[in-house]
Amino acid sequence: MGKDVIVACDFSSKEQTFEFLDKFKGRKPFVKIGMELFYAEGPEIVREIKRRGHRIFLDLKLHDIPNTVKKAMNVLSRLDVDMTNLHASGTKPMMKAALEGLTRPDGSRPILIAVTQLTSTDQQTMEEDLLINEPIDKVVMHYAQNAAESGLDGVVCSPLEAGKVHSVCGDNFLTVTPGVRFADGDVGDQKRVMTPAEAKRIGSDYIVVGRPITAAADPVAAYERFVAEFVD
Ligand code: C5P
Repeated sequence: MGKDVIVACDFSSKEQTFEFLDKFKGRKPFVKIGMELFYAEGPEIVREIKRRGHRIFLDLKLHDIPNTVKKAMNVLSRLDVDMTNLHASGTKPMMKAALEGLTRPDGSRPILIAVTQLTSTDQQTMEEDLLINEPIDKVVMHYAQNAAESGLDGVVCSPLEAGKVHSVCGDNFLTVTPGVRFADGDVGDQKRVMTPAEAKRIGSDYIVVGRPITAAADPVAAYERFVAEFVD
């Protein structure tokens, strides 16, 4: 499974999104739709991008009581997305309920991955705000294991963590990794980055790339370069 470049369509309107996607002509990149675009345009944006032939990672990071998440996942599954996610901190019963909701009558379902600790949370905020006193690396691996034990397909993680996640949760457990940059590229606000070639070597299954493609002078050429380094 996997080895693909997912383009983060972090746009605020469908006009901007389609102007961007139209540049790709025959190419149909796997795209990530996040909260901003989904809340601005609603489910129709998902249907329309799907109609255009793209695979979609719907990044809404669900977190609620199991019954609510199960029902919401059922709706997302009917939108025919290819991948979606939730917060592992919602606990195992929530993750198991999510899988049930996501599974279609024919047994198929989108890939379901978990967010462990957000990269915006560090050791200090985790201890002070969440009262979690374990080392953050241990918390991340524990949440990844919980996700695996609940039957999920993988986690979102830093490419730097991908190798460890595979060793703890198995080689088939997917690692979806943002924070990827070319060695000669702009790092932006990402703190811990890796090149696509390094991410490939370390075993990332999917890389999620936003601004190095969306803000490039030639987005198609930038996308092709990521594919060439990571997939081919
Ligand atoms: O523009 P850039 O390549 O930094 O975009 C990365 C994408 O991955 C964004 O949509 C960002 O929200 C997302 N992401 C991230 N770090 C995480 C989780 C998600 O950068 N830990």
